[in-house]
Amino acid sequence: MPLPKAELHLHIEGTLEPGQAFELAARNGVDLPYADAEELRRAYRFEDLQSFLDLYYALMTVLRTERDFADLADAYLARAATQGVRHAEIFFDPQAHTRRGVELGTVVEGLWRALERSEAEHGVSTRLIMCFLRDEPAESALATLEAAGPHLDRITAVGLDSAEVGHPPVKFRAVYEAAAALGLRRVAHAGEEGPPAYITEALDVLGVERIDHGLRSLEDPALVRRLVRERIPLTLCPLSNVRLRTVESLAAHPLPAMLDAGLLCTVNSDDPAYFGGYAGDNFDAVRETLGLGEDRLRELARNSFLAAFLDDDEERRARYLAEVEAYTFS
Ligand code: ADE
Ligand code: ZN
Repeated sequence: MPLPKAELHLHIEGTLEPGQAFELAARNGVDLPYADAEELRRAYRFEDLQSFLDLYYALMTVLRTERDFADLADAYLARAATQGVRHAEIFFDPQAHTRRGVELGTVVEGLWRALERSEAEHGVSTRLIMCFLRDEPAESALATLEAAGPHLDRITAVGLDSAEVGHPPVKFRAVYEAAAALGLRRVAHAGEEGPPAYITEALDVLGVERIDHGLRSLEDPALVRRLVRERIPLTLCPLSNVRLRTVESLAAHPLPAMLDAGLLCTVNSDDPAYFGGYAGDNFDAVRETLGLGEDRLRELARNSFLAAFLDDDEERRARYLAEVEAYTFS
């Protein structure tokens, strides 16, 4: 039995496996510029974040109907459950769909079909986080938040993703203020490829409660002290960092040093179909390559539930935390 954990950094579009991409392409009459799933998988070699994003957005053309989004989320949840995921907070990128003519309602209601059955079918509770693309204009983010109005009962938080460098958090001040006024929780990618100053800015200007990645935190000792003092969770994604070359190798990943510094780290998969592994695979990789012991692994699992947006269901959080404490490693 795998260690129980929450997944807090997972782009649902990044769970599109090559085989499923071909199935959806056939269903929707979309021509993919690859002979088959194997050839597509061989294209999953990236130089940096942008080279990944180019393929990630291109492949989304196969996602068109509510059923497609429901099938995508259902496949992820089934797979996550086998890796010990008990709770998943799932990102989606509405603008990546609306800009190619798929309505926001199709995306949210499709995902919701899978999410509302998830607990009964997979034993995984869920939350939905709507991300804004930081390389699109701020006005587009505001229009997206407005369009989400009828679906806000499905959405727990807003996030910020896509190409980081050159798109500082401050660009999204207004939309984060509007989201907070609507009662939405706030997170943002920061310090993945971008500098630690973006992490500070996301906290100060956007009022985020968690930092997605925060990989470059250690470069700024004052920031580290603050993140430790304020117990700001970081949603790290080790296999993603290796594939996008934001670390030289998994062995060189700063996770052990970040834990030693007292940071509230969690381990997540980001875009598992593209980066070689789901949440449990990321845990296995850091255990094997970084030599993390049982105490550290249990700490990572505990942190994932402490950092989860479960404030409206503290009983559930307590139940999950008790599962972590009762877990015996084999
Ligand atoms: N969108 C999907 N995956 C992402 C990542 N790792 N960084 C930024 N935006 C993303
Ligand atoms: Zn991400």
